[in-house]
Amino acid sequence: MKSIYLAPMEGVTTHIYRRIFNKYYKGPGKFFTPFLSPNQTKSFQMKELEEIDNEKNAGMTTVPQLLCSNAEHFIWACKEITARGYKEVNFNLGCPSNTVVTKKKGSGFLFYPDELDAFFDAVFTGIEGLNVSISVKTRLGKHDPKEFVRILEIYNKYPLKELIVHPRIQKDFYKGEIRREWLDHAYENSKNPICINGDIYTREDVKNTEERYPDAEALMLGRGLIARPYLFDEGDVLKDRERFKAFNAELLDEYCKRMSGDFSILCKLKELWFYMLPPLNAGKEAEKRLKKTTKVSEYRCIVNEIIESVALDDR
Ligand SMILES: Cc1cc2nc3c(=O)[nH]c(=O)nc-3n(C[C@H](O)[C@H](O)[C@H](O)COP(=O)(O)O)c2cc1C
Repeated sequence: MKSIYLAPMEGVTTHIYRRIFNKYYKGPGKFFTPFLSPNQTKSFQMKELEEIDNEKNAGMTTVPQLLCSNAEHFIWACKEITARGYKEVNFNLGCPSNTVVTKKKGSGFLFYPDELDAFFDAVFTGIEGLNVSISVKTRLGKHDPKEFVRILEIYNKYPLKELIVHPRIQKDFYKGEIRREWLDHAYENSKNPICINGDIYTREDVKNTEERYPDAEALMLGRGLIARPYLFDEGDVLKDRERFKAFNAELLDEYCKRMSGDFSILCKLKELWFYMLPPLNAGKEAEKRLKKTTKVSEYRCIVNEIIESVALDDR
């Protein structure tokens, strides 16, 4: 099987989540931080520093991700990151959020190919001598997937560690079918190693993607792995169940230690259950109880009951 990466998901794949995921589940060979935003202050926020803190990322391969359209700021961040021992930095050219796109960042930067090209030129010059490789996580464009023809020509000019393609345009956000023909285009024409991302949810999806793109370097899963952290477990269902319980219990304990107030803690965890519940088919009643609960103690019981009562073998 190809290498599997856990996709960065702002608010979801925090350093807490990644560490606990890595402790219980062995699928991903690489984890990505949600994006850090270097800017003119040339300092990371506390929250960003935690994401790249060495202790919090010990025992796993983590790739810090940057969201930025200023080469000088990007180079500054690369220096900060490599000083902490990281060997790869990922560049976010996919974020579809309007607040990001209007600042010409994320997938918004894709609409300015000449500037993008100049940015890469400056960055690759600026990081010469630094022991770091740059990977890119990209969409196909902003308004039209045809934009990707030119965008890919630009990527092909630079020695990227990897090109991670999410085959949608900004306007698609995360909805609708992925644009398969454009993923094929990227696969056939990229001079850099390709990693495939988007709508891989089951083992069948993994198998089909591997068969269609045999030379791809890796597959990156986001929502699919959040929904089924046990996706790649080979153990029996009973062991899986205990592990899934322990995984959820540790997430709860860690978020309780680091956040205050049942409301905010449960918001964080309910976001995970937004993904985890559907494949479990736990029933409407359980779903309602989980949604409604406002107390951590009650949440703990509901989660254990759900995990006791469902089958985990639907992958
Ligand atoms: C809530 C949420 C937050 C995300 N945050 C990031 C992010 O910080 N950086 C990034 O490159 N992609 C981000 N993404 C995109 C995912 O990394 C991934 O590309 C997307 O979910 C498609 O893959 P999937 O179908 O496997 O989920 C986010 C997606 C979601 C749904």
